[in-house]
Amino acid sequence: MYRKNLKDEFYTRKSKEEGYPARSIYKLKEIDKKHRVIKKGDIVLDLGAAPGSWTLYISKKVGGGGRVLSVDVENLKFPAQGNIIFIKRDVLKLDEIDLKNWIGRFDVVVADLAPRTSGIISLDIGKSLELSFKSFEIAKSVLKRGGNFVCKIFEGEEVNSFIGEVQKTFESLKRARPPAVFKRSKEFYIVAKNFIHR
Ligand SMILES: C[S@@+](CC[C@H](N)C(=O)[O-])C[C@H]1O[C@@H](n2cnc3c(N)ncnc32)[C@H](O)[C@@H]1O
Repeated sequence: MYRKNLKDEFYTRKSKEEGYPARSIYKLKEIDKKHRVIKKGDIVLDLGAAPGSWTLYISKKVGGGGRVLSVDVENLKFPAQGNIIFIKRDVLKLDEIDLKNWIGRFDVVVADLAPRTSGIISLDIGKSLELSFKSFEIAKSVLKRGGNFVCKIFEGEEVNSFIGEVQKTFESLKRARPPAVFKRSKEFYIVAKNFIHR
């Protein structure tokens, strides 16, 4: 049986103490601290936002002059108010053209999407990659020139071709595996900065 290690428990406890609905807050916080992805006043799209830790972090970071549009099939754990807008929608059915016409272009797109797992590894990795590709399609369509893209990925066969595609459209791309990622997890993040292609 899997036993939680001390590091995993540390982040879970810390998120409760600091009032965030999920420990994943520390993944984005660490990525942002190291790679400077989000700044005050930014307009940010948060894909796979529930229960809402990333949304809360982004909302505080961009401040009153910024905005975060959060999308998920599940509800956030708190009411969307202030600079937060929430849409309950399947990202795979999201129309990026509608989104752009409605909100305008975004400074940053973050995607922490994770499909419901079936237990069949190849199927789960395939589903996850579909979400990553869709997030990338959305990012290409809605980002401002110079914008940034953070996307969760699970290790698998086609990951390198996905990364290769993303690399063509941003000035820089780094892999990140923040300490808050579960030790046994195959997930990591790509941090793509300065969107150059439209
Ligand atoms: C790891 S959680 C995100 C945690 C979030 N970043 C936070 O800090 O609270 C992954 C989310 O992806 C969402 N999700 C998975 N597939 C989706 C889809 N096709 N469309 C929208 N949301 C999806 C799930 O409902 C889940 O809330």
